[in-house]
Amino acid sequence: MIDSLPKAELHLHIEGTLEPELMFSLAERNAISLPYQSVEEVRAAYQFSSLQSFLDIYYAGAKVLQTEQDFYDLTWAYLERCQKDNVVHTEIFFDPQTHTDRGISFGTVFEGIDAALQDGKKQLGISSHIIMCFLRHLSAEDAMNTFAMSKPWHHRMIGVGLDSSEQGNPPRKFTEVFEKARQAGLKAVAHAGEEGPAEYIWEALKELKVLRVDHGVRCLDDDRLVQYLVENRIPLTVCPLSNVKLCVFDSLSDHNLKQMLDRGLCVTVNSDDPSYFGGYINDNFRATQTALGLDNQAVYQLLRNSFNASFLEHSERARHLARLDTLYQELSDD
Ligand code: ADE
Ligand code: ZN
Repeated sequence: MIDSLPKAELHLHIEGTLEPELMFSLAERNAISLPYQSVEEVRAAYQFSSLQSFLDIYYAGAKVLQTEQDFYDLTWAYLERCQKDNVVHTEIFFDPQTHTDRGISFGTVFEGIDAALQDGKKQLGISSHIIMCFLRHLSAEDAMNTFAMSKPWHHRMIGVGLDSSEQGNPPRKFTEVFEKARQAGLKAVAHAGEEGPAEYIWEALKELKVLRVDHGVRCLDDDRLVQYLVENRIPLTVCPLSNVKLCVFDSLSDHNLKQMLDRGLCVTVNSDDPSYFGGYINDNFRATQTALGLDNQAVYQLLRNSFNASFLEHSERARHLARLDTLYQELSDD
């Protein structure tokens, strides 16, 4: 069922779609040496014990991305996967500091990604938005400088986000830059409650004024927070395979996604960094459905949530929801 129904993806780091094959071909194109001998060796290195153990490898892998064409090729490969998985709208993150800190200009990164997204709209009919994330392990001042540097592109982004090492880097560290971003008309989202405590989700809501929480799986530790998220219809972009790969849950059958749905939370399913975590969005749906015994109605609810939680204009959202409803009805009648 999941293959034939349209969906939106709302939590996807474009740097996390770098497949080992592309990593090798970009390394060759840019004359960069990799600490791996083969694609198999790269895949074998993707065993993580925590978020930080993943991030170390992830930032190292991103070094092969040098030119606008590299960012275009990376993004285009992801869009081709979107087409296969029936993703009709995607809101992607990128981390400018990962690239500007090694001398790649902001424009090189942004223009390469955006050119592919424009072609994705024209050639594949996939709509998209770009969210610029600040790396929370770096300073607030660094985030502010990045925000200033990105000004010429603000009108081409939908929002700002916050990612990287959560523990010890609370959302309140970035209150000021998020305030500036909101003043510039950008929407706010943030990773919170992935490894960090429920308190960080409160901070993301109250200090950063986020409209969506990325991950947020720790919210079930705090009943008052769950009630707040339900009452205010704040969506949570959950990434099941990521959570297992990064040891947030011991196994997929221990994941709390079904409990979150049962509590009335607006949960969505996403792939986070699919090249590193063993699967794209439909892989996440299939594995989660099996592990948690989700029925078709629950999957349908998750798909509806993906559009309702998106930053699509009202009319576009309604159009996607109507098409989803029709297709789901047809499948149910068969
Ligand atoms: N950057 C890429 N993936 C991430 C994740 N799952 N958590 C925090 N930062 C990230
Ligand atoms: Zn993420």
